[in-house]
Amino acid sequence: MADPAPVQDESFPEGATSLNRRTLVDACLANRDVTIRTVKVEDLGQIRMVERASFPDPYPQLRFLMLHFKAREGFIVACKDGIVGYAISEIRGGRGHIISMAVSPESRGSGIGEALLEESIRRLDPRVNEIYLEVREDNQAAIRLYEKFSFRRTGEFIERYYPGGEAAVVMLRSSPKAG
Ligand SMILES: CC(C)(COP(=O)(O)OP(=O)(O)OC[C@H]1O[C@@H](n2cnc3c(N)ncnc32)[C@H](O)[C@@H]1OP(=O)(O)O)[C@@H](O)C(=O)NCCC(=O)NCCS
Repeated sequence: MADPAPVQDESFPEGATSLNRRTLVDACLANRDVTIRTVKVEDLGQIRMVERASFPDPYPQLRFLMLHFKAREGFIVACKDGIVGYAISEIRGGRGHIISMAVSPESRGSGIGEALLEESIRRLDPRVNEIYLEVREDNQAAIRLYEKFSFRRTGEFIERYYPGGEAAVVMLRSSPKAG
């Protein structure tokens, strides 16, 4: 599949109330010189740094290399003078799956996580009926972000999902075409 066009930079236009959410996020990112694009192999070193700063149990480096080849356009990065965030998604068993995402600690709280998730959903939605993910129950920042994009808890817990032994909560979002 061809690499979809990256998120376009747009200046913040007049009449913001008539804009949809996507345009608002794009405008917000343009003001911060942040762009979103598909990953390149040379990004992997910086992605690893973002990951190490974000998780107590970072993936082994080889896993990112494998995901780079496997996830293809489902592996995206946010760039601003280097990589400041990433999101990885895949289609698994006919369903969309958000594998992982993170924003570097110094870049959080400025809409980058939201833009990465929005772009991941935009790439998955035409091809699936639903998207699911796993998240630590105590990760309120991520859960709030996912809820903002209509992910809801399924009630399913996966015991000892994380290397530290914590359980994962499963969240699910129906894609619009699913009706
Ligand atoms: C979760 C994460 C990706 C959010 O990235 P971010 O760039 O800071 O998020 P944004 O600035 O785009 O925020 C978007 C929404 O997320 C939620 N959110 C983000 N940070 C939050 C926080 N500290 N507390 C509560 N909600 C938060 C809010 O709903 C926010 O929308 P709002 O600003 O309108 O309230 C980031 O905190 C992170 O990398 N955490 C560590 C890695 C991680 O937990 N990844 C998810 C694994 S499942």
